[in-house]
Amino acid sequence: MDGKQIFVQSLFECLDGNLEEEQLYRLIEKPKQAKMGDLAFPCFELARIFRKNPQEIAMQLAAEINSIYFEHVEAVGAYVNVFLNKALFTENILQQICKEKTSFGYSNLGKERAITIDLSSPNIAKPFSMGHLRSTVIGNAIANIAEKVGYKTIRINHLGDWGTQFGKLMVAYQKWGNEAQVRANPIKELLQLYIRFHEEAEVDPTLNDLGRQWFKRLEDGDTQAEQLWEWFREESLKDFSRIYELLGISFDSYNGEAFYNDKMVRVVHELQQKSLLTESEGAKVVTLEEENLPPCLIQKRDGTTLYATRDLAAAIYRYENYHFAESLYVVGNEQTLHFTQLSYVLQKMGYSWAENMKHISFGMMLKEGKKMSTRKGKVVLLEEVLQEAIQLASTNITEKNPLLVNKEKVARQVGVGAVIFHDLKNDRRNDVDFSLEDMLRFEGETGPYIQYTHARLHSLLKKGGYHETDNVSVVDINKAWLIIRRLMAFQDTVMRAYNEYDPSKIAKYLIELAREFNKYYANVRILGDEENKQARLQLVYSVKTVLKEGLRLLGIQAPDAM
Ligand code: ARG
Repeated sequence: MDGKQIFVQSLFECLDGNLEEEQLYRLIEKPKQAKMGDLAFPCFELARIFRKNPQEIAMQLAAEINSIYFEHVEAVGAYVNVFLNKALFTENILQQICKEKTSFGYSNLGKERAITIDLSSPNIAKPFSMGHLRSTVIGNAIANIAEKVGYKTIRINHLGDWGTQFGKLMVAYQKWGNEAQVRANPIKELLQLYIRFHEEAEVDPTLNDLGRQWFKRLEDGDTQAEQLWEWFREESLKDFSRIYELLGISFDSYNGEAFYNDKMVRVVHELQQKSLLTESEGAKVVTLEEENLPPCLIQKRDGTTLYATRDLAAAIYRYENYHFAESLYVVGNEQTLHFTQLSYVLQKMGYSWAENMKHISFGMMLKEGKKMSTRKGKVVLLEEVLQEAIQLASTNITEKNPLLVNKEKVARQVGVGAVIFHDLKNDRRNDVDFSLEDMLRFEGETGPYIQYTHARLHSLLKKGGYHETDNVSVVDINKAWLIIRRLMAFQDTVMRAYNEYDPSKIAKYLIELAREFNKYYANVRILGDEENKQARLQLVYSVKTVLKEGLRLLGIQAPDAM
């Protein structure tokens, strides 16, 4: 039962087809103040069609519309304002949630079509950066949301596991490395070796040649080089997996750059055949002059391929393997040029599906206004940041609820949830200021606030002896109305979050829902009056269900107590 759809229908019947249903749907607004009703229709467009003043039209429409679904219809200025039949809509939505439970909000927009999502994609032997964290968290939320609107998702971790830096690392490891140390602390050790290589190469430039030689050996399939590379990759992945486990995220594929090594000949050959390659100082490029962009580098003078070549091969591979309806790349906005070039080159190759590739870009993570850097030793290791968040959450919990069982597990859910929510609550394109104290507060726009509200609701249900039923009754019609309206908006919010690839729509929705509920809770004694207790608990159950499901979409867990 959709109030907006019903309003469209009523207007349509009054207007003898002078406006299409879709037009009506688009024009309907939500009044800023609740006292102006639940929906409003502005009559300016009709005023133009009928050459009449809009106030007059609004008055006529208001008088004419008559439906059991509306409590009241009134004209205010040029608007027709509608007040929904609260009892009817309340009963309907609570019934729906109690019946559908966690599938509430699902829609089949995607019709089971496939979406590939390129996310996280850190570089082997380098620290997992704040940018990779953002990509992981945003990408995972978008994937969850895509599933909620009926798509099949393929989460791909396009590891940066190839490139000249591996030659350097091999040289450094053989000169100064220690196996046990790398095993104990892979990323930290490998990074130190890499840094040392650069320092020493400044004094002794022949090291660079040696590095190049080793990378060449790797590309030529030399066993010793390959074994080292594989080991670096494996050890790095062990470090990364711990982060993924903390975040509760898994992937369908770890095919990184190296996976495309044997798929690049075809790409270069195809570009040649389609006459798209130009020689430039010995290198091969695709020019993008008409597009007003710098050329896309395909092959270096020494015959080696580049990041872009690998991404061309990957895009084609993904299309041929997954037949995607959409292919998303969740990567920071500093790579916008790369993805624009990629898409143009594929279009020039005649791949019309390139239109369905989308770069989902995002801003930087800042600390006190500055980029959180991973360069030159002053590394902010992400795992340490997450552990710090968990530690702080644990302190907060001990203070608030010293007797809590499972404290460690809950601290993990709250600490990690706080970091994720903080990342997702604003438009992804903005930079985010990283402040652990802010994100861990139990009040305000934080993950812990939503989790805490959820836990309160859980305990209310338990205390009140709620038993699940979809046979609902309605109480507190006026006091609960804003909550009901919010619940009715859930599905639409999920769809909009998908259409704009914007998880912050859901984060904001959850904040509003939790606030509205807490206001209601402050005014109503939910367990106080026996007669209405079960009916009120149905509302509690519905809000709890939606909070939990919304958090799940963001990739955040909702503990039952905290
Ligand atoms: N490894 C790259 C980096 O850390 C990100 C890769 C993104 N995905 C892609 N298909 N290019 O910057």
